[in-house]
Amino acid sequence: MDQITALTEPGLPLKEWWHTATAYQIYPRSFSDSDGDGIGDIAGIISRLDYLKNLGIDVIWLSPIYRSPMDDNGYDISDYRAIAEEFGTLDDFDRLVAEAKARGIGIILDLVVNHTSDEHPWFVQSRTGVQDNPYRDFYIWRKPLTDGGPPNDLQSSFGGPAWTFDEASGEYYLHLFSRRQPDLNWENPRVRAEIYSMMNWWIDRGIAGFRMDVIDYIGKDADQKIVTDGPQLHTYLQEMNAATYGHRDLLTVGETWSATPQTAMLYSSRDRAELSMVFQFEHVTLQWDVLYGKWRPKPLDLVALKTVLGKWQRALETDGWNSLFWGNHDLPRAVSRYGDAAGYRVESAKMLATVLHLLKGTPFVYQGEEIGMTNVPFTTIEQYRDIETLNMHKLHLDAGRLADDFLKGANESSRDNARTPMQWSNEAAGGFSSGIPWIEVNENYKSINAADSVADTSSIWHHYRRLIALRKTHPVIVYGKFESWLDDDPNVFVYSRTLGTSCLVVIANFKPQPQSIEIPADIRIIGVCLSHNYEPRELGAPRLELKPYEAFAVLQT
Ligand code: GLC
Repeated sequence: MDQITALTEPGLPLKEWWHTATAYQIYPRSFSDSDGDGIGDIAGIISRLDYLKNLGIDVIWLSPIYRSPMDDNGYDISDYRAIAEEFGTLDDFDRLVAEAKARGIGIILDLVVNHTSDEHPWFVQSRTGVQDNPYRDFYIWRKPLTDGGPPNDLQSSFGGPAWTFDEASGEYYLHLFSRRQPDLNWENPRVRAEIYSMMNWWIDRGIAGFRMDVIDYIGKDADQKIVTDGPQLHTYLQEMNAATYGHRDLLTVGETWSATPQTAMLYSSRDRAELSMVFQFEHVTLQWDVLYGKWRPKPLDLVALKTVLGKWQRALETDGWNSLFWGNHDLPRAVSRYGDAAGYRVESAKMLATVLHLLKGTPFVYQGEEIGMTNVPFTTIEQYRDIETLNMHKLHLDAGRLADDFLKGANESSRDNARTPMQWSNEAAGGFSSGIPWIEVNENYKSINAADSVADTSSIWHHYRRLIALRKTHPVIVYGKFESWLDDDPNVFVYSRTLGTSCLVVIANFKPQPQSIEIPADIRIIGVCLSHNYEPRELGAPRLELKPYEAFAVLQT
């Protein structure tokens, strides 16, 4: 994490270790199973650390590993200070932190504090029905309306009402996700104190930071139906910062579906002492249907995508910081969504990596993306495991949608696309487990797997490795000013990054058809080719003929 010392040119902005870092997200359940129970675990992760070190990773974001009934695969926590039995023990976790550190890798934990599991002792106490139980006010309880109905029509992200009636206490509790994920009452100072103390407990175990689950929800005002960007959101984040990581050198990234460039500045501006950065999702949601959302996605509109990415690059140019990602455990596989998994899988996966990794911000690679893993072609709903997909299937069918039509949407957008086991080799179950995986392995593991990718220097994996290394050696990639070109071109993305006398130009064809483009007069394609997904080409000509999904970057110094 000290590569930053290589970037000590005078006049550059304030530097943080995470400016040059590349992060890698692990979904523990699906990453590597060491004991053959079909579920990934911490010992499995440890056994793969060298793989990540060789890729050049600095930080691992671990999706939740805490004790949980796994209603939402660990995003429903029943004990914040224990490890889920299927993942291992606290000793395993400490060993993971130490082994990762020995390889220069930090571990960031998923902080899920908008809600707990309904099996968390706080909620068990809270729902005992005793109004003066000190834990009653740890959650959000409301009396029924006179007709017995819920206080309002807030909806859960997983479908259906966000209020569930609790017979024992005669009141409704709020859950913006599943019924088994009751929302914590952040207005209660005791809740906040418990959470900060828990965060410090993990910080003291040597972690490198937190990814904060739906953190834009914590300032909510449920009665006014204000969920994101609630009145107390930033007050709480500043309080959290001061009480926990503020005086330590950690990376904090908030999951904020609601973020705009303006609110991103509130979260990540240096003076505000809140977070290092946020995940924004504008480039994701712009592809959703007005009515069916992600369950009937629209075809990719490159002009709109470029507009969004460019807007975020410009907005956080001098303060704040961007995170960069195509995928995560809630999103489809990048190459299936933005590229061409059937026709040009290798070319388009490399193209997408080139475009993302040469932008300004901290890139996050989602497990399997570095070998070009694809969406999974499940043919029946029974193959799905994800609570959101299963709930939505029921709701859509109840509303009259045809099962096949829903399945088509799920094939494109279900969270399970990202959750099939990591494909390590062409052995049984893709080398993920010696047992039967908790969710089916994508059958293409025989041709798409890490062992083959690492062995082939022209693979997607090696392309990622080179891009990750470039960020460590070229300050222009870390701090260069972003400008975009040919904004109206629906097929090609052209941008430049400039820092001092260095100018990096990135050109990417997002289509399976060849493209012919006129190079804008203001930029010149001369210098050293830093990255290419085809054979290096001759540079300098005013017109370019681009091959399908061709992408390259040229540095002029
Ligand atoms: C976040 C997580 C998602 C989870 C939800 C509820 O969006 O990324 O996986 O289901 O929060 O915790």
